[in-house]
Amino acid sequence: MNKYKTMVIVGTQWGDEGKGKITDYFAQKADLVVRFAGGDNAGHVIWNNGVRHKVTIVPSGILNPNVMNIIGNGTVINLEKVNAEIKILRDDSIDTSNLWISDRAHVIFEFNTLLDKLQEDARKERKIGTTGRGIGPTYSDKANRFGIRICDFFEKNFEELFREAFNYHNELITKIYNHKPLNFNEVYINAINNFELLKNNILDCGYIIDKAIRDNKKVLFEGAQGVLLDIDHGTYPFVTSSNTSGNNVSLGVGIHKKLISKVVGITKAYNTRVGAGAMPTEITGEKAEIIRKNGNEYGSNTGRPRRVGWLDIVALKYAIRTGGIDKLFITLLDVLDDQEIIKICSSYILDGKKIDYLPASNTQFTKCEPVFEEMKGWMTDISNVKSFDDLPENAKIYLNKISELCKVDILGFSVGSDRKQTVLNKKGFD
Ligand code: IMO
Ligand code: MG
Repeated sequence: MNKYKTMVIVGTQWGDEGKGKITDYFAQKADLVVRFAGGDNAGHVIWNNGVRHKVTIVPSGILNPNVMNIIGNGTVINLEKVNAEIKILRDDSIDTSNLWISDRAHVIFEFNTLLDKLQEDARKERKIGTTGRGIGPTYSDKANRFGIRICDFFEKNFEELFREAFNYHNELITKIYNHKPLNFNEVYINAINNFELLKNNILDCGYIIDKAIRDNKKVLFEGAQGVLLDIDHGTYPFVTSSNTSGNNVSLGVGIHKKLISKVVGITKAYNTRVGAGAMPTEITGEKAEIIRKNGNEYGSNTGRPRRVGWLDIVALKYAIRTGGIDKLFITLLDVLDDQEIIKICSSYILDGKKIDYLPASNTQFTKCEPVFEEMKGWMTDISNVKSFDDLPENAKIYLNKISELCKVDILGFSVGSDRKQTVLNKKGFD
């Protein structure tokens, strides 16, 4: 964090860029860490001193006991998942008493997760490949004003409100999707029980964060997913249902955008994607398998093998522009240690023409062929590298090339999953 008062961490690709690791790293110097979008579709993995921790909805600042962790109003929250995650963290001796939830956040219920699955099944060959966590249906309810927020649980007429929402969803479940109905009492009692465990940790997050920034506290905003999964600017329809970019922080936590200083884009040294949708630089076969194995590219939530590809600069520049990104942080650089040749995509060919932008239409995007530049790999184990100067020459060239093509400084890079395997470039701080 050093000079920045507030910093935003967002993914610049299709998620899984290592946002959790980098959030945890900067959280060592932060006062508050806040999630502003998404739900438990995220899978943020943090390694510290050889111990693996995984969070999906709890912010990745949770390993620092001095940090106030807030799940912001722009997220959608499965309360049962929050409690389950708290239990696992406590079993690992992590203090979770400083975890807070926005009173304005929308709640994911069993009918939302069930509808997510039923809708996916109904899509037949047009499946999105969602995580099945009820994200789309809950954000739909929010926009449709059928949603239930955390603050509603405190109201006397909560049962009535809940029953209305429940009945509406049960009609969809039984009449549209021909599924057996959910049981009101089961869903209601489960919701109430889970809320009871969390009710003393609810707050108005915009008020708290605004005050914290004005009191010179350091606030870190943790994104989920990646800019290419953004509902407005991502590769629609193969996206998630929220705005994942730095532009959404002010709305997702309830502060003015003027209070946000820097947006750091987390970029994996290559590309991955889970779920459906095109990835022009995708590679298959043995090379892909090596990267998948070295990078442990299997969904931390769903276990699905991730598709892998070379770094796509066209998509990255697009993410930097639409995501308001000031600096890049390159992760999983060590995964490329044994690649003799590393490819980097600098433009696409679409219908015989060279282009350097992402077409809006998914049909057009699917037709884009990558134009690659080839670079020599470094063929050295870099997992113990402690500074940019220590990197082998070809790795320096690779990082400099990314920075040059994107016209953005590289704030740092990571060479392994442990917190200690993180390197800050002094040059990145201005
Ligand atoms: P983190 O925070 C990778 C993908 C899903 C699917 C699409 C829509 O770990 O980077 P959804 O369940 O959101 O409706 O699914 O988005 N997706 C992710 N992929 N990492 C994530 O989060 C993701 N969250 C959603 O695979 O293609
Ligand atoms: Mg993930």
